[in-house]
Amino acid sequence: MKVSAAILKKKTIDIFKKYKLTSKQAKISADIIIKAELVGASSHGLSRLKMYINRIKRKLINNSPKIKIKKISKSISLIDADNAIGFVGGDIGIKQAIKNAKSTGIGIVAVKNSGHYGLSSFYAEQAVKKNMLVFCFTNAPPALAPHGSKKSLFGTNPICFGTPTGTKVPFILDTSVSLVNRGKIRLAAKLGKKIPKGSALNKYGKPTTSAIEALEGVQLPIAGFRGSGLAWMVDILSGVLTGGNHGGKVRDPFDDFTGPQNVGHLFIVFKSNLFLNNYTSRIKQNIRNVKKLPKVNGIKEILYPGQSKFRIYKKNMKKKINIPKKILRDLNDL
Ligand SMILES: NC(=O)c1ccc[n+]([C@@H]2O[C@H](COP(=O)([O-])OP(=O)(O)OC[C@H]3O[C@@H](n4cnc5c(N)ncnc54)[C@H](O)[C@@H]3O)[C@@H](O)[C@H]2O)c1
Repeated sequence: MKVSAAILKKKTIDIFKKYKLTSKQAKISADIIIKAELVGASSHGLSRLKMYINRIKRKLINNSPKIKIKKISKSISLIDADNAIGFVGGDIGIKQAIKNAKSTGIGIVAVKNSGHYGLSSFYAEQAVKKNMLVFCFTNAPPALAPHGSKKSLFGTNPICFGTPTGTKVPFILDTSVSLVNRGKIRLAAKLGKKIPKGSALNKYGKPTTSAIEALEGVQLPIAGFRGSGLAWMVDILSGVLTGGNHGGKVRDPFDDFTGPQNVGHLFIVFKSNLFLNNYTSRIKQNIRNVKKLPKVNGIKEILYPGQSKFRIYKKNMKKKINIPKKILRDLNDL
């Protein structure tokens, strides 16, 4: 069924407020959830709303957090998000990192006691809009087996890097380190769809295209041991360094109700003129050099990361969003 983004956003805000999130928390969360739908990342959109509400109902997401920001230096801050919904922990974290970077050139902010915050790119975009470069890291519940192990431990731990490009369209590389992000597998399981070959093993270690079997088994990382190493790096930066859970201890938000997730995030933001005054012309030249390369058959344009999502967003802004009946039913139940 097709519904306008404005109506969906209002419904989402109302649902969060019904479960006693403040208006501000509800708005931040709904903005990010609906934007995920608008960029075509429905795996991180409304299909997760029921999960967030389940955790609020069980007080595993704190609807009245006392968030503490500890200033370590003018550039560095540590935030204890007090188990706020992850969108709020992430939003406060990136805003603090931007503020620190404005004052000293670089802002490094660690967030602990946070939760699943959706797409990293939405936080990165905030820094890029201020003409800054940015890295965002967050860890996630066990999904990937470390290289050489039979058991999953690392999350799909996304790596996100953003930079201004001197145009309206930011460069934002925002990628899971699994071949397929877990949200897409969860959504496929919910909608009874298959997942791509080679992206997961079942619980007996055999390749599977069943989303349900993949959730019971392990997902495979990008590029073998290299992807496993990247997942580990993100776990260290988001968890070990920040005070967040790590080493397989981040709880699965969908089915582990034994405590809050305590996800960690790390935001590193810096000004584009730290070393040179002509970053904008240099990045423009860099992108031009790549884009003018000869293309393989079937490719009309070489895109930089973030470009396709930006186009999907612009297109979807003008029309209604297609929401599967199952997801709308969840929304109405809530
Ligand atoms: N919060 C969490 O715990 C969590 C965990 C995992 C993933 N995520 C989020 O899930 C989202 C989706 O991850 P994903 O791995 O499925 O991303 P993806 O595979 O859709 O895209 C990965 C990157 O490739 C770029 N890209 C896509 N097509 C391209 C093309 N034709 N040419 C050039 N670049 C292209 C995209 O812009 C993006 O930067 C991310 O936003 C990530 O932050 C969140």
